[in-house]
Amino acid sequence: MPGSSSFLIVANRLPVDRVGEDMWRRSPGGLVTAIAPVLQRREGAWIGWHGAPDERLDPFEHDGMHLIPVPLSAQEVELYYEGFSNATLWPLYHDVVATPVYSRALWDAYRLVNERFAHAAAEAAAPDAVVWVQDYQLQLVPAMLRKLRPDVRIGFFLHIPFPPGELFQQLPWRRELLEGLLGADLVGFQRPGGASNFIRLCRKTLGLQYQKHEIYVEDRVVRAEAFPISVDFGELDVLVREPHIVARAQEIRRDLGNPEHVLLGVDRLDYTKGIGQRLKAFGELLADGSIKPGEAAFVQIATPSRERVEEYIRLRDSIELQVGRINGEQGELGQQPVQYLHQSYGRDELAALYLAADVMVVTPLRDGMNLVAKEYISCRHDLRGALVLSEFAGAAEELKQAFMVNPYDIDGLKRTMLSAMRATPHDLSRRMRSLRRRVATYDVDRWAQDFLAALES
Ligand code: ADP
Ligand code: G6P
Repeated sequence: MPGSSSFLIVANRLPVDRVGEDMWRRSPGGLVTAIAPVLQRREGAWIGWHGAPDERLDPFEHDGMHLIPVPLSAQEVELYYEGFSNATLWPLYHDVVATPVYSRALWDAYRLVNERFAHAAAEAAAPDAVVWVQDYQLQLVPAMLRKLRPDVRIGFFLHIPFPPGELFQQLPWRRELLEGLLGADLVGFQRPGGASNFIRLCRKTLGLQYQKHEIYVEDRVVRAEAFPISVDFGELDVLVREPHIVARAQEIRRDLGNPEHVLLGVDRLDYTKGIGQRLKAFGELLADGSIKPGEAAFVQIATPSRERVEEYIRLRDSIELQVGRINGEQGELGQQPVQYLHQSYGRDELAALYLAADVMVVTPLRDGMNLVAKEYISCRHDLRGALVLSEFAGAAEELKQAFMVNPYDIDGLKRTMLSAMRATPHDLSRRMRSLRRRVATYDVDRWAQDFLAALES
């Protein structure tokens, strides 16, 4: 029997994690940042896992959203979430910056859990509903759902990069994943390159015909196109002007010893983010005397992420060792050049940090979009502040006025960080004005509207 939701979001995670009896915490990552305001402004429901294993929960309301939890056993968390999603697909789709694990047991769990999400969506969707499936954890759901509910319109959006054929072809289950995605009416990517990688793979692997953005699948047409995701510019722009945020930003600078330059990194602690590269560059700038002691402070906020996956355990050790070394060698009593915080913060504190930072350092080795870069821009109505941005972030395609870097090139990174620190106010405001124009126009509402209009057309 069909359900009652005419608009459904289906994502691995709900926007909140259960952390105790009736206690909820905002889930980490860019997907939740982008999708939560979209659902809050529409009637609908969100199907996803609530972040705790071996627990069945009833649907509930939270922050103006109707949430439908999908249970995962502890073993499924290990095999489907930590395993196939984050030890196979995540590294494979991010240019194999870590080595992907290929294991049939992980694949079996992925298929099984995708089935469960498809059934949950089929039960919740009203006749002719719009169902919007999100991200790499659920790539089989579109085809599974189409079988169960041929009446609904299905959109899929991939928040991470879609890799070139040479890498994707490594995957033993490449056909199944492509067929899974082709169950959607519209498959959205962050960049045009992702869409064309997908279209070419459909031709090569499945022998399908296509024209421009349209792929012909039996009697259906599937569209594959880029829709670069964004942030809630207006909300941040208002928030950051509030007196308590302005006061907090000043306090942060004072607590850091009022250095001339505050540099900031804000990321999930993930090996795709290039945190080691930016710290190396900063450490060398101190060591070679390009930055004088006390002249600059680097604040690195690194949200705990996927803490049981091996590569993440290794990354944490290596970053913490690196921070210790820089502070040990370059610091002084009562004054440490790198402030490293392995914690999550609320929106207010992040906004204050963005406002306090002269240089925002965003250096991923590969990133679908990178919303942190767009959040920083949204917070700088004062037209001050410099964005150092990796050319390997999806955001680089839109944010051309940033200080662009190749994060693998440590000398280049050092030079660019110095140029950002020494840029004139005139140069900074010229760049920031243009960056803000872009993010204000293409905000998250515009992204959702564009995607849903294409899906419904
Ligand atoms: P990803 O989705 O890979 O984590 P993005 O940069 O696209 O990367 O999105 C990250 C989101 O998580 C942003 O909205 C950012 O504000 C938020 N975030 C990052 N670090 C923290 C933190 N320490 N505390 C709270 N939120 C964070
Ligand atoms: C990225 C992914 C999301 C994911 C988020 C946080 O943004 O694209 O799908 O939810 O990271 O990762 P996590 O594994 O904690 O859900």
